[in-house]
Amino acid sequence: MASTETKGFTSSFGAIAAAVGSAVGLGNIWRFPYICGQYGGGAFLLVYLCFVFFIGMTLMITEFVIGRRTGRTPIFAYESLAPSKKHHWWRYAGLLGLITSFLILALYLVISGWTTNYFAEALIGAHVGHDSSSITEHFNTFSTSALRPIVFIGVFLILTAAVIVGGVQKGIERVSKILMPVLVVLLMVLCVRSATLPGAAAGFAYLFKPDFTLLTGEGVLAALGQALFSLSVGMGVMIVYGSYLPKDDNLLKTSIWITVCDTLIAILAGIAIFPAVFASGQDPAGGPGLVFMTLPVVFNSMNPAEGLPIGTIFESIFFLLLVIAALTSAISLLEAQVAWGDEYNPAGKKSRRLRNTIIISVLMLVLSAILSLSNGAWSNFTIGGKTLFGFVDQLNSIYLPPLCSLCAVIFLGWVVDKKAIKDELSNHGTIAIPWYKAYMFLVRYVAPIALIIVLITGIVNSL
Ligand code: PFF
Repeated sequence: MASTETKGFTSSFGAIAAAVGSAVGLGNIWRFPYICGQYGGGAFLLVYLCFVFFIGMTLMITEFVIGRRTGRTPIFAYESLAPSKKHHWWRYAGLLGLITSFLILALYLVISGWTTNYFAEALIGAHVGHDSSSITEHFNTFSTSALRPIVFIGVFLILTAAVIVGGVQKGIERVSKILMPVLVVLLMVLCVRSATLPGAAAGFAYLFKPDFTLLTGEGVLAALGQALFSLSVGMGVMIVYGSYLPKDDNLLKTSIWITVCDTLIAILAGIAIFPAVFASGQDPAGGPGLVFMTLPVVFNSMNPAEGLPIGTIFESIFFLLLVIAALTSAISLLEAQVAWGDEYNPAGKKSRRLRNTIIISVLMLVLSAILSLSNGAWSNFTIGGKTLFGFVDQLNSIYLPPLCSLCAVIFLGWVVDKKAIKDELSNHGTIAIPWYKAYMFLVRYVAPIALIIVLITGIVNSL
């Protein structure tokens, strides 16, 4: 097992590839395009960009500081960065992050299982010749059936766990360095195809033309929620990745790289999807079902009557892209759990990575299987009128990430010794940080206020 390697990423490129891999996921390709279209296109994009750069990036730097300064996983990181023993209860903020990433991974695996199934189906041409209503029916039957989604969750989870067992350098870093460039190439191929279809202009207008009448209060909240989710902040995962960052990495530069790549990929995903949706006359407001119900119809419409089924080839490329994006994100979520297990229960020099990965993966499989069944056979079991899947989804989108984020900014802005923060941001005084004051202002005031508003509104709306 490769886990006796020295801890951490070996290069800045590897670190950025892994963190971009975490950030770029289903959130960018499956979720961003449909909520952007839903809440006013360009209007939503403007608000989203403000949140991503001012609040999301502030949180990313904050989590990196907590992680790299301590070199530890969230619970221990909060504890050891606390200025005195009386602040040790901050470790519960780390615990909250761990629980959040555990729950998010369970949900994430369900959608990733669907994605893996659709990739397999696209490869064998299973959607060829089906019209919109039969594709919709196929999705509904598949997602509510008992066995098949769980089998594909299992397949996806085995892939994820195999990378984690490989270790931080030989597993996560190596795989990210290969898969992220592949992802960009696949995405570019799809963008070129979509953008050059006749009638594509309407798709660009839908995505980019600002319509402020659609940007409701709910849309603004969705923009902040999406910014946190998309950058993988607010659940301690970036604390873990922060602990693997090279000591001489410039934290601001690294965070800007990750944020810019993540945002560009979300926008490119919109370009790969909407022009093609409009060109084939499909409904762009497909919501969460857009990818699984609308896109197979769109790709079918690109197939010529005879000869090479080019649309189906593009469909396979699209779902491969989605599997890769989901995989590198799931890797970071599973790593957060496994790394904690290793730190909580160290076995001397010998790492327990293999053992911990197996235990956590089995737990994950059970929980994801339950969530998957709650979409079908067990949908009668409800909490507050929601299926278990809906309930955990609500916890994860409305309450937990903003709460964990709030803990992180209050801890760094108001509790941790300022000298330690300055020292970490400036790599022990070796780089200039003229932006320090602006960052502290964002951490101490702007981010907490925004997060408190999001939390309160979320709670009030869900009552
Ligand atoms: N950022 C990922 C996405 O956009 O799909 C999701 C995610 C991964 C969220 C890892 C949180 C996390 F810790």
